[in-house]
Amino acid sequence: MTPQTEEIRVPVESDTDIVAARQKGRMLATRLGFSSGDATIVATAISELARNIVLYAKRGEIILIAMEGGERAGLIIIAKDDGEGIPDIRQAMQDGYSTSGRLGVGLPGVRRLMDDFEIVSDSGKGTTVTVKKWVR
Ligand SMILES: Nc1ncnc2c1ncn2[C@@H]1O[C@H](COP(=O)(O)OP(=O)(O)O)[C@@H](O)[C@H]1O
Ligand SMILES: [Mg+2]
Repeated sequence: MTPQTEEIRVPVESDTDIVAARQKGRMLATRLGFSSGDATIVATAISELARNIVLYAKRGEIILIAMEGGERAGLIIIAKDDGEGIPDIRQAMQDGYSTSGRLGVGLPGVRRLMDDFEIVSDSGKGTTVTVKKWVR
């Protein structure tokens, strides 16, 4: 089978959108062959990233890219917004750091749950988080 990718884009600006993104991610993960536990992990990561978009940037999108037919199947999740951005990424990645009085474990938690984690952000320039998980 030749490698294929399928892309699903979910606009995110409300709680309903967060649920929709989470459900689409879970469905795609299950179809790709993730275990039920790993599909839950994927859904949780999508929820956290989508919630950050709604909380801190008001709106943005979640892009799900399914990779299959190659050596390994996997899922890429891109959470993208044009909001205020994060002035200090190192600080934002620390457990317990939150500017909204929340738990502050969203971003570091997502990093621990995924196989690959990349964040690009700056004040006034929006935020893009790209994470990847392979089917095992
Ligand atoms: N998309 C985003 N845009 C701007 N700031 C963000 C975004 N995502 C996260 N942040 C900042 O990073 C901090 C840490 O995020 P996170 O680990 O998810 O913790 P929490 O959401 O519980 O505060 C947030 O409190 C916020 O200041
Ligand atoms: Mg959060």
